Amino acid sequence: TTDITELLLSRIRDVADYPEPGVVFKDITPLLADPAAFTALTEALAEVAARTGATKIIGLEARGFILGAPVAVRAGLGFVPVRKAGKLPGATLSQAYDLEYGSAEIEVHAEDLTADDRVLVVDDVLATGGTAEASLELIRRAGAQVAGLAVLMELGFLGGRARLEPALAGAPLTALLTV
Ligand code: PRP
Ligand code: MG
Repeated sequence: TTDITELLLSRIRDVADYPEPGVVFKDITPLLADPAAFTALTEALAEVAARTGATKIIGLEARGFILGAPVAVRAGLGFVPVRKAGKLPGATLSQAYDLEYGSAEIEVHAEDLTADDRVLVVDDVLATGGTAEASLELIRRAGAQVAGLAVLMELGFLGGRARLEPALAGAPLTALLTV
């Protein structure tokens, strides 16, 4: 593994039995609190944005906001928030998706994406892929192109990468860490 892999891994805290028994939560707050690690993460994701020819960064509420906003600034691109339903005041596109129990809905301001945009979605964790899949659907429904999906961490055992293949339609999924 490279230096950055070691640095990022060393700043992610495993929390046992959170938010429920049997689940190991990946806590990124130590990474965010370490300026060297947070900067290295931001620069690595900004390189992905450049490599994929992105024109905009979408961050997925909430932890995708923390990572995606500095990436947009570093890459010289606009930032577009995808929010949980009911938080955006303007004309929105909404996309529902299934959770383990029940469902959720995310939204984007339709006017923030145009046909000329290539959009890189940034989030902290790829788990089942449901959240990311819904965001990719929003990008297509807005008439924009998908530049890719970039995450700090992929939970490989949950199969999110395979699930996202149709929605990515050949666009790259970049995970800095796979656990
Ligand atoms: C978490 C995580 C990802 C998502 C991954 O968000 O930050 O966005 O779950 O899960 P999936 O691949 O199964 O969809 P969550 O909405 O739980 O919390 P947050 O608001 O703190 O980001
Ligand atoms: Mg999230």
